[in-house]
Amino acid sequence: MSTEATFRPRTVRRIAWLISCLPLVLLPAAAQETAASGKPPVTIKELMEKTITPATNTIWNAYDPPTTDEQWQALEEAAVTLIAASYVTSVGGSGPMDTDWAKQPSWRAFNDVMMSAAKDALTAVRARDHDALLVASDVLYPPCEGCHMQFNPGVVNAQ
Ligand code: HEC
Repeated sequence: MSTEATFRPRTVRRIAWLISCLPLVLLPAAAQETAASGKPPVTIKELMEKTITPATNTIWNAYDPPTTDEQWQALEEAAVTLIAASYVTSVGGSGPMDTDWAKQPSWRAFNDVMMSAAKDALTAVRARDHDALLVASDVLYPPCEGCHMQFNPGVVNAQ
């Protein structure tokens, strides 16, 4: 009886400890599942509106050379955001058409131009090279328009 009495609280503690560890075991498994399914947990439309548009606007609005570090930093953030968003849109998204869209070779082609322009923008920003930034900025527009004309002809490009 006395062994049982000391055993029980310890068992309870062990169970409590095991339960407290469950998230550590289950969360990575859940994360792996999301990664394995290859489907990002946001829609392409959300990425377009919430990340790609504000990031490109920051880049497109930099007609004049930035004069402060903060301005360069904002441009750097925009370029990094755009690279990351382009990576996601190359895989797809959680919208009804997103996976089908991302499978099309022409989708990939437009997306690649957008991503490489974003990478060039980042390189230009890090070199504090405003002329190179303007070049990247110009290259960035055609893939938006081309992809919208092919995949979503009613889209009005917010710029
Ligand atoms: C690879 C293809 C592709 C590229 C490149 C692309 N878009 Fe899009 N964009 C889409 C598609 C498809 C939609 C519609 C998504 C939906 O409705 O589910 C969309 C929607 C949008 C929307 C929402 C408009 C609306 O009313 O639905 C905005 C804003 C937008 N894109 C901005 C941009 C900008 C700015 C760029 C370039 C920097 C860009 N997109 C590049 C495919 C693309």
